[in-house]
Amino acid sequence: MSARKIIIDTDPGQDDAVAILLALASPEEIDVLGITAVAGNVPLALTSKNARIVCELAGKPDTKVFEGCDRPMGRELVTAEHVHGKTGLNGPVLPDPVMEVEDQHAVDFIIDTLRAHDAGTVTLCPLGPLTNIGTAFEKAPDIIEKVQEIVLMGGAYFEVGNITPAAEFNIYVDPQAADIVFKSGVPIVVMPLDVTHKALVTKPRNDAFRNLGTKVGTAVAEMTDFFERFDKEKYGSDGAPLHDPCVTAYLIQPELFSGRHINVEIETQSELTMGMTVADWWRVTDRTPNAMFIGDVDADGFFSLLVERLSRL
Ligand code: BDR
Ligand code: CA
Repeated sequence: MSARKIIIDTDPGQDDAVAILLALASPEEIDVLGITAVAGNVPLALTSKNARIVCELAGKPDTKVFEGCDRPMGRELVTAEHVHGKTGLNGPVLPDPVMEVEDQHAVDFIIDTLRAHDAGTVTLCPLGPLTNIGTAFEKAPDIIEKVQEIVLMGGAYFEVGNITPAAEFNIYVDPQAADIVFKSGVPIVVMPLDVTHKALVTKPRNDAFRNLGTKVGTAVAEMTDFFERFDKEKYGSDGAPLHDPCVTAYLIQPELFSGRHINVEIETQSELTMGMTVADWWRVTDRTPNAMFIGDVDADGFFSLLVERLSRL
């Protein structure tokens, strides 16, 4: 089978970084057409820089990186330095990138790339707020049919919220964009907090990254060392959840994940519950299912995959 063509839309972020490394380490399954940066965990200038730092860390400086939207479609930007640190990639000391960002705006890259492909042949992998994708769909609705699938990290049902009591960060930052995406009719696979909170980097798992003895293994271990302090304090968990790598792992080994095909709607009006993913997990409405909402992961299988793939870089 030929590699699946994808665009990674991202706001790195330590966990975004691991997701990108996993994709770049897996060329047999994944063909990264481009990486589009969006404002989210930190402002756009930093997410764009971090995306390039990660490509160079992977030894893939030919990867195309584009800068997209610097703020949500209809709200002020909310960032998450309290989780990811001032640069978004705190933890390891990594060199500034030599790679340049591409001239084209990320939204135009998404539109042109989809227009140049046959219907249903490009997968979008959003790892941050959905601003770039929502803007592209609004600007060029003809591209929607070109999308094979959207596999995204965002939302929650059982875990409810991490940035407000009701909402997960990526959806909360740009609920309007998320609403456009969830109403687009494209097949969607959602990695909500319900599953990502099961993908915890426990000490033995982080030791496995460190013990690779490579630049990538050490950097990933140091990223998680930094990132985990927040979740350990907040949730009392055994380590940091690797949210975003669930997306790229799904592209390689979907059988690691299980969920339900259900209806998911986005709250865009109420300030109290803004950005909530109203997921009909128990199928108590007759609303049409629009997303495969993942609830479980074989965490050991997921970490074995990560260690094996990262060892290739
Ligand atoms: C999501 O928000 C960001 O902090 C992470 O990178 C992840 O994409 C988790 O809520
Ligand atoms: Ca992210």
